[in-house]
Amino acid sequence: MSYSSLETKQETVGEMARRDYRKAEVFKKLGIDFCCGGKKTVEEAAEAAGLDVDLVKEALDKSETVNVGTAQHDFDSWPSSFLADYIVNVHHKYVRESTQLLDELSNRVAYKHGERFSYLPLLRHHVMELLEELHTHMKKEEMILFPFIKQLEQQNTGAAGCGSFSTVQQPISVMEDDHNAAGELVRKIKELTSNFTIPANACNSHNLYFKKLEEFVGDLYQHIHLENNILFPKAVQMEKQ
Ligand SMILES: [Fe+2]
Ligand SMILES: [Fe+2]
Repeated sequence: MSYSSLETKQETVGEMARRDYRKAEVFKKLGIDFCCGGKKTVEEAAEAAGLDVDLVKEALDKSETVNVGTAQHDFDSWPSSFLADYIVNVHHKYVRESTQLLDELSNRVAYKHGERFSYLPLLRHHVMELLEELHTHMKKEEMILFPFIKQLEQQNTGAAGCGSFSTVQQPISVMEDDHNAAGELVRKIKELTSNFTIPANACNSHNLYFKKLEEFVGDLYQHIHLENNILFPKAVQMEKQ
């Protein structure tokens, strides 16, 4: 289905990315936020990213002729408990495994080259804040929200409840606020690094640091996309049923 045929529905970029991962690839390439900013229409998201909306629509239509060529998981068809486990085992694990390297690289590069590249100490500050927030956030998901969602799926009833929350929307709203805060830190990181552009005379550590950071942010986008656009709406829907 082309983008133009969906115009009247005012589909959000998050919903588009959920429906067709090729659209998510277009958003990623163009720097359009479909995770934390996933509730915007294409027009609003293009405007927020400073892009010509017609060019964005054209790229979205074109993406439908592209055969991705690699296996794409149909996350939307997965049971919620399986998706929650996948998020923990793939994305939460990735954040935990990446933390030490990002800590070391951000520290070393800021210490060695902070005078030449004056943004490096502030960049480290944002990176460490992002990591700390994510660690706390993931614990909340693993200990509160994801068990709640699994319970909902098992009981298939709207009366599950969990701890001090009476509806699943309450912890979801808290997690979405956390995602927005993480998205704001990522925005600052991308701005400081001019989208992870490695300076011509950067040393190997600086090079590795920016590549790792770019990979980390890419993984975080996918992580938040799976939660905001797929897992959380499914949980809200289960509770209604
Ligand atoms: Fe998560
Ligand atoms: Fe999350």
